Amino acid sequence: MRVRHCRWASLVLLWGAASVSAATPTRDELLAADYQQGRTAFQQRCSACHTLAEGGAHLVGPNLWGINGRRPGTAPGFAASDALKNTIFQWDTEKIYSFISDPAGLIPGNRMMIPEPVPAPDRAALIAFMLLETGGADWPRPATAGLADRIDTTRPLAERYPSFYRHLMTNTTRYRMETPGGELRFDVYFNTNGSASSSEPAIRGFWNTVERRGMEFFCYALDGIPATPSQLVECFPIAAMAIPRFAEELWTSKPVAGVTLHGGIMAGRPEPAAEPAARP
Ligand code: HEC
Repeated sequence: MRVRHCRWASLVLLWGAASVSAATPTRDELLAADYQQGRTAFQQRCSACHTLAEGGAHLVGPNLWGINGRRPGTAPGFAASDALKNTIFQWDTEKIYSFISDPAGLIPGNRMMIPEPVPAPDRAALIAFMLLETGGADWPRPATAGLADRIDTTRPLAERYPSFYRHLMTNTTRYRMETPGGELRFDVYFNTNGSASSSEPAIRGFWNTVERRGMEFFCYALDGIPATPSQLVECFPIAAMAIPRFAEELWTSKPVAGVTLHGGIMAGRPEPAAEPAARP
């Protein structure tokens, strides 16, 4: 007990030091910030690991809906590090500012790895965008939000997101589904014709893309799963999958109450079943 208390005390000192050096944006600065600049910064620097919308999936990092005022490491269904969970402040503009300036400085031992701090000129815009998109701003979204760079959906997905497309269409999407009735593992292969097939012959599905709030989502439906539920429908922001990664478990979601679905991407996929040989 005493040891833990001492460690907390020293962490509190560190937080104090971090927040002194941080030039936290004021509310006026957040209000005046450029929405588009914030969105671009978020998409480039954060969206590979975080979704913002309510009910969004956990990726490598937790869904950030409701982050303002929340205790660190408390996103339901996300296995946060002890470093994050033992942190005793509430997220606000100041804490987010110092976190994106120096994650390890604010919370030593946390698991979030970013290649570099968010550059100072982008910080206020990024925070304003995040607060707006996670229900944490007390000011309205700018009227132009979502208009500035409408996605040119006339071009095929394969051209707009080549690395994402190749990644998903040539590799194996691996699932582990935990249900009250037990655990089921199966592989899914998304095909360029919009279908999805599986290592479990009964599972069939399809995929398409959907634009929502200025972001494009990859959505798929699977049917015939030999478990309850036997159907799954999920959507992911494509930007979150733009950096091709391989791992057995890349994301976790709760498609229905009581069911946890872990998904990952494994390199390669089996050849489709051979056509029956032609008679000589
Ligand atoms: C490479 C993946 C990755 C990137 C990129 C990333 N994060 Fe994270 N983030 C994480 C992980 C993992 C955690 C959980 C850390 C832990 O459990 O120690 C996290 C945690 C957080 C938290 C705390 C969440 C909570 O529930 O307490 C915030 C806030 C956050 N990230 C914001 C951002 C912002 C803003 C950016 C972009 C500048 C960003 N992250 C970029 C992986 C990432």
